[in-house]
Amino acid sequence: MQSWRAALLRFDDDGHALFDRDGLLVVGQNDAGRAVVLAAGDHAALAPRFADVPCTPLPGRILAPGFVDMHIHYPQVDVIGSPADGLLPWLEHYTFPAEARFADPAHAAETARFFCDELLRHGVTTALTFCTSHPASVDALMTEAQSRSLRLIAGKCLQDRHSPDGVRDATEQSLIDTEALIRRWHGVDRLGYAITPRFAPTSTEAQLRGAGELAARYGDVWIQSHVAENLAEIDWARSLFPDARSYLAVYDDHGLMRRRAVYAHCIHFDDDDRRLMQRTQTAAAVCPTSNLFLGSGNFDFAAAERVPFAHGLASDVGGGTSFSPFHTMLAAYYAGRASSTGAAPKAGLSLSPERLWWLHTAGAARALDLEGVVGNLQPGCEADFVVLNPEATPLLARRTAQAESLAELLFALIVLGDDRVIEQTVISQAK
Ligand code: GUN
Ligand code: ZN
Repeated sequence: MQSWRAALLRFDDDGHALFDRDGLLVVGQNDAGRAVVLAAGDHAALAPRFADVPCTPLPGRILAPGFVDMHIHYPQVDVIGSPADGLLPWLEHYTFPAEARFADPAHAAETARFFCDELLRHGVTTALTFCTSHPASVDALMTEAQSRSLRLIAGKCLQDRHSPDGVRDATEQSLIDTEALIRRWHGVDRLGYAITPRFAPTSTEAQLRGAGELAARYGDVWIQSHVAENLAEIDWARSLFPDARSYLAVYDDHGLMRRRAVYAHCIHFDDDDRRLMQRTQTAAAVCPTSNLFLGSGNFDFAAAERVPFAHGLASDVGGGTSFSPFHTMLAAYYAGRASSTGAAPKAGLSLSPERLWWLHTAGAARALDLEGVVGNLQPGCEADFVVLNPEATPLLARRTAQAESLAELLFALIVLGDDRVIEQTVISQAK
């Protein structure tokens, strides 16, 4: 057993932030030998029970759950900041050529190492990650994540049409490869597999159908894809699947919407789409830095509360511009403020800092069907956490010193913070 004494942030079951100015976090092993939270709360109340447990005092620091990134592409670290008119030219000119390089396992291994370093440097301890269409790109990332005990979910991209040589796969082989990767990696240590059709326009009906069959056969495997990000993409998808009620419905028609299915973007939805998300327990990964960078539009947070469906935050590196959860939370705030995807401007929404933080930790874990496992520091959760330094820069020190409430403190961190705030990232280890 081990404990840390510092300010402590966690969330209750309703998503409300709990904050102890002088808190104690006690970590021990569960029956499986994995480091989990045994107790968390006010130091004075807990300390007598754990008087024998070695304690690391961290005065002036904040302990908080490790961040959960619901959608990121590890092969795209080298395309961050590549400008384009929009999604489709960005894919063609930068992304597909960069991903073609992952035919080389040495390049995949080097990038996987760099990627995991970046996640941890930014305090991200769980991620749902795209790989490329090359099966070895999955092996490279899983191997790296396993060596660090990271909770990582990843999958090989399925894209058997409208994709250039070097990234296009073959229908039957792609499904054979996917099943082999599920068997090799899903449930090994903290790793999970996600069936990963890139997006409907780059898969044939046969590939989508095969992916749906695998999703039915392996019910606790995740599914990840993209939907309703960009108007040109939507027109294209509609022309390729003219019989579907909407772009989103294409995935439902192929058995790809269910618990543990996660779709990035979900911007240009109508209420029928939102009800479909809700009914199927499918989750949205909201990617605000990517949406702003590629000019895709803004996720409608108000509509996602009016017709509730699971959603959480994601970086979408390399369409997204930063690994930093602080940058993503701030961009989500801006997106909520803008809040309009249609012709008529609507009054903006002012998402609270507690809500933004929840959407990138416990809320994202819930959307990934990992509630109570990661994204929180309640008893039983795996002990993935960050040590935050609210004085990491002169301006942060000045501003946070004047914060009179938790909301003010969290908002100062969101607006002014970046990787300098993450003093340490602690990953739950197994014995
Ligand atoms: N749609 C299909 N592929 C991609 C991708 O790599 N990034 C984003 N943002 N959207 C996509
Ligand atoms: Zn993406």
